[in-house]
Amino acid sequence: MDVARYLTFPIKQVHPLPPALVGPGAHEMVGSSAQQLGFARSLVMTTGLRGTGIVAELVGQLEHHGIEVVLFDGVESNPKDTNVMDAHELFVANGCDSFVSIGGGSAHDCTKAARIVTANDGRLINEFKSDLNLHQPTAPHLAITTTAGTGSETSFAFVVTDTTTDPDRPSKWTAGGWGAVATMAICDPVLHYSLPSDLTAYCGMDVLAHAIGAYVSILDAPTAAGPALRAIELVAQHLPTATANPLNSGARSGMLDAQYLAGISFNSAGLDAIHSISHAVSARHATHHGLGNGIAMAPVTAFNLSACYDRYARIGVALGVADHSTPAIAAADAAFAAIVRLANDLEIPQNFGQLPAYSKSQVGLGLYADAGAPSADDPTHVDELAQHALGDICSFTNPRSLTLDTMTNLMNEALVGTRS
Ligand SMILES: [Fe+2]
Repeated sequence: MDVARYLTFPIKQVHPLPPALVGPGAHEMVGSSAQQLGFARSLVMTTGLRGTGIVAELVGQLEHHGIEVVLFDGVESNPKDTNVMDAHELFVANGCDSFVSIGGGSAHDCTKAARIVTANDGRLINEFKSDLNLHQPTAPHLAITTTAGTGSETSFAFVVTDTTTDPDRPSKWTAGGWGAVATMAICDPVLHYSLPSDLTAYCGMDVLAHAIGAYVSILDAPTAAGPALRAIELVAQHLPTATANPLNSGARSGMLDAQYLAGISFNSAGLDAIHSISHAVSARHATHHGLGNGIAMAPVTAFNLSACYDRYARIGVALGVADHSTPAIAAADAAFAAIVRLANDLEIPQNFGQLPAYSKSQVGLGLYADAGAPSADDPTHVDELAQHALGDICSFTNPRSLTLDTMTNLMNEALVGTRS
């Protein structure tokens, strides 16, 4: 019997997770952990995290434990194929045997991609576009998070921006496999205190997008629901406080747990179209990943509600705005209202059109110098963004089927619409 004719994903693929140290003080185990993993000369990959002192402290710990360090601090936000290839060349030229990534998703994703290139004799990273079966052995990798957002230190996937196909229209693609899973993760809220309020909010919306997307994804992985719903509870409880007071230790710890659990949930469940829109816009305009998710969350959730009221009802319970006796549609509507309120409370811009150019991503390339803020004025531009989002891997697991027309409507809402 052809089961696939009746069930979209009859067999769930559960991806591995790295062992992890999670909690305050875990970063002090960086040197001994790298030593236990057998690291001798490591390529440390980061965006630099300038002004925080984090990179210098962690490099010092590695060196104290006898590990030689080669520093690559040229990772850009929304990491480019060129960043990946530069890292690979540095790794080979210096005879490194291991990778250490320090930062948010950009540092981890770039490192995961560089490991794939290095394991394949330096082939261009874009040759592995959309390949989710990168299971070959790769160089060991210690991933240290400095944001409560990404989940990349936990997941098997990574995202790269392709700048080669059309210099004026860079695109993003996702790939992954067991060879991309970090060898070990270190998640320590002590490293998050220096993250400013606005970035705390943006990264927190990434966490919420991971948890919601994993819970409503049609992959319906059995490993997703528990961690996803707990992550949503923790976001509702701690994200407003962490944003309002970045030095609140309880809120930082709560968000650390939330991001780790959300990473577990989407690792095997995939995501929804919130990420598709964020990926498409950030590929062209270098917008912040979490901020893009915060903007896309309301229109995509409104669109998806009718596909699975029961799932959104449970999200409403996790957000604390419904209980198990609330009728499903009312609880789902309450979940949507709570999402809108959270985004407004966190001062997430109403749409992409309100954003200034995102300067962090313009370092070194000038790729986005003339891009300006995303706009809905040019129908060709909107169509290109919608097509990019529709082809994104996250659109295939969205709970409500998408067409170019419906995605174009969603993209227009994200570009110029308002949440409430
Ligand atoms: Fe994300």
